[in-house]
Amino acid sequence: METVLSGIRPTGNLHLGNYFGAIKNFIRMQDEYNCYFFIADYHSLTTHPHPENLQQNVKQVLVEYLASGINPETATIYVQSDLPETAELYLFLNMNAYLGELERCTTFKDKVRKHPENVNAGLLTYPTLMAADILIHKADKVPVGNDQKPHLELTRLFASRFNRMYGIDYFKEPEAYNFDETLVKIPGLDGSTKMGKSEGNAIYLNDEPEMIRKKIMRAKTDAGPTAENQPKSPEVMNLFTLMKYVSSPDTLAFFEQSYNNCSIRYGDMKKQLAEDVINVCEPVRMRINDLSNNTTYLEKVMRDGAEKARINARKTLSQVREIIGFKN
Ligand code: TYM
Repeated sequence: METVLSGIRPTGNLHLGNYFGAIKNFIRMQDEYNCYFFIADYHSLTTHPHPENLQQNVKQVLVEYLASGINPETATIYVQSDLPETAELYLFLNMNAYLGELERCTTFKDKVRKHPENVNAGLLTYPTLMAADILIHKADKVPVGNDQKPHLELTRLFASRFNRMYGIDYFKEPEAYNFDETLVKIPGLDGSTKMGKSEGNAIYLNDEPEMIRKKIMRAKTDAGPTAENQPKSPEVMNLFTLMKYVSSPDTLAFFEQSYNNCSIRYGDMKKQLAEDVINVCEPVRMRINDLSNNTTYLEKVMRDGAEKARINARKTLSQVREIIGFKN
């Protein structure tokens, strides 16, 4: 049976980008594959969270995973730092990860541009840690959004380099995966191409309906089409993209047609879009509220997940140590 793995950094509430890029994809696969979903708390250290916030964020993300429909009975849910073997594999992989390729990674260049005051080594080697997460379970498929593609390319490179270096066919080369073929990129409400936690352009799974309506009604648009079949501005394109994920094909087709024949009223489109987003978020928000105080259950999920995930991790590390030449 093929193995599927994905994870999310605990740096705030989950948004529609996380949901459609990673979670929904994963949920569709969880009954048919050997599945792991983890909370990437080591990765979140690149931004130096306060210890109390770190703990709170891990709990919040766990609650939101469960509320979204990730099932701990079929998928193994765990916290990355409960698998210290990951850190050891990261160390080994770093020995064969080269500065040039890490510096060229587009996600690294992006971070350097946005946060020049915090270019730490953890940020540079973020892709090696991610490769360790994936390779430790020998995952075949990694359901992620489009932004993670460069990291999967590096993971494949590190896996094949390790195999070549030790003359052994040990690691598999995993693929970034989407159930519907193309990787997802959910746009922001501010006209930017990506919805992100720190961009102020996101709809969160636990946003109340009124908040969702407010955010969508405020989203940027333009003055409206003045000719038939006019190309869409980036802001308007974003609303249509969002609609593609949350609304029915008929609704999307209706607004496409009214855009193309210039009869569209963005206010009407936004009202419909808001209701369709609420239909996605509201059931999740209700479950978030139910789960949040069930500490005993949450602790059990984390404990059971760590136990299951460590069996694999220990086995991989023991084999890797042996391949490298350490005595076990
Ligand atoms: P993070 O927390 O930045 O993102 C978590 C997941 O959400 C997806 N995502 C999006 N997808 C579509 N449109 C968007 N606007 C959008 N914003 C976020 C991301 O693609 C990702 O799938 N580095 C990973 C966490 C990680 C991981 C791993 C994932 C660490 N190790 C191993 C898979 C396998 C990340 O991007 O986290």
